Amino acid sequence: MAKKIREFVCQSCGSVYPRWQGKCEACGEWNTIVEETQQSSDFTTIKGKSKGKEIDFVSLDGELENKTRINTHNKELNRVCGGGLVEGSVILIGGDPGIGKSTILLQAVSQIAAKNEEKECFYISGEESIEQVRLRAKRLGLEKSPVNLASATNVKDIIATLEKNRQSSVVIIDSIQTMFIENIESAPGTVSQVRACGNELIKLAKKQGFVLFLVGHMTKQGVIAGPRVLEHMVDTVLYFEGDRGHQFRILRAVKNRFGATDEIGVFEMCDKGLIEVENPSALFLAERRGNVSGSCVFAGIEGSRPVLVEIQALVSSTDYSAPKRAVVGWDANRLSMIIAVLQSRCDLNLGGMDVFLNVAGGLKISEPAADLAVAAALISSVQNKPMPADKVIFGEIGLSGEVRAVGQSDNRIKEAMKLGFKGAIIPKNKKNKKDKNMFEIGNIQALIDWYNQF
Ligand code: TYD
Ligand code: MG
Repeated sequence: MAKKIREFVCQSCGSVYPRWQGKCEACGEWNTIVEETQQSSDFTTIKGKSKGKEIDFVSLDGELENKTRINTHNKELNRVCGGGLVEGSVILIGGDPGIGKSTILLQAVSQIAAKNEEKECFYISGEESIEQVRLRAKRLGLEKSPVNLASATNVKDIIATLEKNRQSSVVIIDSIQTMFIENIESAPGTVSQVRACGNELIKLAKKQGFVLFLVGHMTKQGVIAGPRVLEHMVDTVLYFEGDRGHQFRILRAVKNRFGATDEIGVFEMCDKGLIEVENPSALFLAERRGNVSGSCVFAGIEGSRPVLVEIQALVSSTDYSAPKRAVVGWDANRLSMIIAVLQSRCDLNLGGMDVFLNVAGGLKISEPAADLAVAAALISSVQNKPMPADKVIFGEIGLSGEVRAVGQSDNRIKEAMKLGFKGAIIPKNKKNKKDKNMFEIGNIQALIDWYNQF
């Protein structure tokens, strides 16, 4: 009989310990270690007398199977997935509860089912009852779409059903943390359950060639809880992010075997579900008031497309010995670096000041190209004088105060011109075309000198 093995598994990173402890040494998280039981036969050991079969090697060059992509009829979702859903691919979609994962998938699957008669679509919810999903479908006006809906959590049943339906094209599992396999003793949502359920479902998707969407919940720290172990097994990982206080939501590809990573899709949550936003720059700049100090427009690139966003800074004197530094939408360490560079290279004294930085609209920026925009917003706030409102800005700042060139300069400028900006402040680069509306700067002091002319 297979022996049962007790082990203690971190639910955040999947590390295994022989006994319980408060902190996971691998990922540094506290209180994430949970007892789980495994059958010793779960482990693959090479036993027995029979020898393994020989495997065939082939050349790199060969006949390729032309995989077709399924159109979701949702431009933003298509873009994030690299131009549609590749047959047989597995997509993990993570995000905070209530961000809209179930909504976007229900919308997508309904569209696919409604517009392609030959495509059989399945929506399996482990979180909501049939009634709840029906209510949502009615709210979205999609109740007439021929989607096969079920409420189930037992993976064995789901697999048996899907094996019978050989025509399945798209299958949605909402969510992987509610699924379970009977002969694994751990509770649903634990690492061993999630890993085993994921493994079985992915195997079936590859065998039958349907597109599998797995919904995963995210923890406070921004990693998909438990299913982090799944990230390696799936083809695409999408994160659905956004602020509950804002209506727009951003779908970001962090891994994609069939397309560009860091590609984003922008949606607006309204009372009739998620609407695609075709021109995100216009949306992010919609509430911008020109002629205020501490604000400037950063021309960024998200994935393959340019996005303009407003960066706001507020610098004020503090009553406390330790000044406060708060950042929303950008990296706090990067802000400290910019402040240090401004202090030591340009004598701009921010030491006794509180500094607040905000990327307006709820977008999270990770590009170093935003350095120069942040510096400009800080300078403008310290001097209480607005930056010229008709210019965008981008560039990376180094520790010696030099401004470095960044990629896709032309695309950034083109997007700014499209939205009515007259010029740009850009890093000095030999490749730049001569243009009187482009102000090139080589170091951060040049930005301050230029700004002081106004
Ligand atoms: P949901 O898709 O259930 O989130 P998740 O599956 O990620 O947990 O989204 C639920 C939220 O979206 C809820 O707060 C209500 C809101 N919502 C709308 O604003 N409009 C709509 O049309 C729908 C269906 C939901
Ligand atoms: Mg949901």
